[in-house]
Amino acid sequence: MAVSAPWSRRLAAQPRFSDNPFSLGVASGDPWPNSVVLWTRLAPQPLEGGGMPTVDVEIRYRVATDDRMQRVILDETVIAMPELAHSVRVVAGGLEPARDYWYQFHVANESSPVGRTRTAPAAGTALSQLRFAYVSCQHYETGYFTGYKHLVEDAPDFVVHLGDYIYEGAASPLGPRPERVIVRQHNSSEIVTLTDYRNRYALYRSDPNLQAAHAACPWIVTWDDHEVDNNWAGTVPQDPGEQNPTEFLIRRMAAFQAYYEHMPLRAFPVPRGALELDLRLYRRFQFGDLVQMHVLDTRQYRSAQPCLGGFPSEPDCDERQDLSLSVTGKRQEEWLLSQLDQSSARWNVIAQQIWFGQFDFAAGAPRAFNNDSWDGYIHQRQRILDFLDQRRPSNPVVISGDWHSYCVQNLKKDFDDPGSETLATEFAGTSLSSACPWASQVEANLDENPHVRFFDGNRRGYVLCQVRPQLWQTDFRVVSDPLEPENTSIDTLASFVVEDGQAGAQEA
Ligand SMILES: [Fe+2]
Repeated sequence: MAVSAPWSRRLAAQPRFSDNPFSLGVASGDPWPNSVVLWTRLAPQPLEGGGMPTVDVEIRYRVATDDRMQRVILDETVIAMPELAHSVRVVAGGLEPARDYWYQFHVANESSPVGRTRTAPAAGTALSQLRFAYVSCQHYETGYFTGYKHLVEDAPDFVVHLGDYIYEGAASPLGPRPERVIVRQHNSSEIVTLTDYRNRYALYRSDPNLQAAHAACPWIVTWDDHEVDNNWAGTVPQDPGEQNPTEFLIRRMAAFQAYYEHMPLRAFPVPRGALELDLRLYRRFQFGDLVQMHVLDTRQYRSAQPCLGGFPSEPDCDERQDLSLSVTGKRQEEWLLSQLDQSSARWNVIAQQIWFGQFDFAAGAPRAFNNDSWDGYIHQRQRILDFLDQRRPSNPVVISGDWHSYCVQNLKKDFDDPGSETLATEFAGTSLSSACPWASQVEANLDENPHVRFFDGNRRGYVLCQVRPQLWQTDFRVVSDPLEPENTSIDTLASFVVEDGQAGAQEA
């Protein structure tokens, strides 16, 4: 991320491009009442490092109140730098709350597609309804992103991405594999360098359905593990024996930078020591007096998973009792609890990656858990549940991804006592395209977990939420066939509601 002194930099006045420089489209994100982030990246050869000369390039952007870009309210320029792969993000300010805007970037004689975005309703003002969608886990190889086509038709106010935006693995052979079908391929071996990560983001972002979804409304993003390395935790890689700690830190820096370069984020990476970047993804959004959303980062500050990390679960072990284990780190936990405590919103959403509720994967003793989820961090989870019990923030709802399956859980004061009070409700969304080979192991143990109200691991799609003061509704949207590139249809597999003041899900 070294930036040379400004007097030595070269600015291309009239750059020429070998191909369309806006091949990766446009995006917007982090909606606040008066501002939103606008994003693009110049990449005439997106899969080969971008194909841009190593000079600064001036990009013009315009924001309008109509989709034909006639009533322009902002017309300014920004510099795209080679150090950030000619990606730019602009905080478009001075906007009005709860309103649609359109935006477009221009460079030389080229223009980007027009994107639509929307500001958040002013915090604290009366809001009768909010509609948003959330997605997670979009493995490029195991399905097409047609879910996004249907999501755009559903026209949510915004999209939340809960992680696994890319997968880091090598290209797989096409065709049926054990427990999955490979319909299209990754563009390299496992990604490690900054160039690798950039090319992988470019591959994913080249997907027309994903691009259209970014251009349709603002996104709020956070990551899970595959944006860096499967099951990484803090500064610990998936296979500590195979990657030395320094190599992993260098890889993690590359992954953080590439994520930043491709997401419409307000946050930016800050150096923390010689080999560490900090990218603060945990943050809060307010939507009128109706919803306060707390977005968590359950990877960057996490202590390593207890026990052996057996997949998808392993027998209970003493290490799980370690009081010091944390998914979020102490600072983020304190931040979350204080935000919840101060919130005056009717619904308080905790948007994060991994299953929050307990899930026992074994009939009888010993019990078995997935220690990459909150089940590996039981004391921290109990602290949060105890907080909900004692401080009673209004209507807590947890939304999660990661496990490639729909799951509705009543979050209990004590998961081992089915009669104990339900303190919050969790809606885990299925993957957009990633496979779920462990679905049958979950299904076989549903009886062990009576607080689980619904499970389906066989469908791909996204979740649509309609929030009103008296009622929260969650629709599990499913694509007819994720292996089909076109002509798919969308359906609702199940709908659940939560009533104001009454934690726990009811079938709609
Ligand atoms: Fe995933």
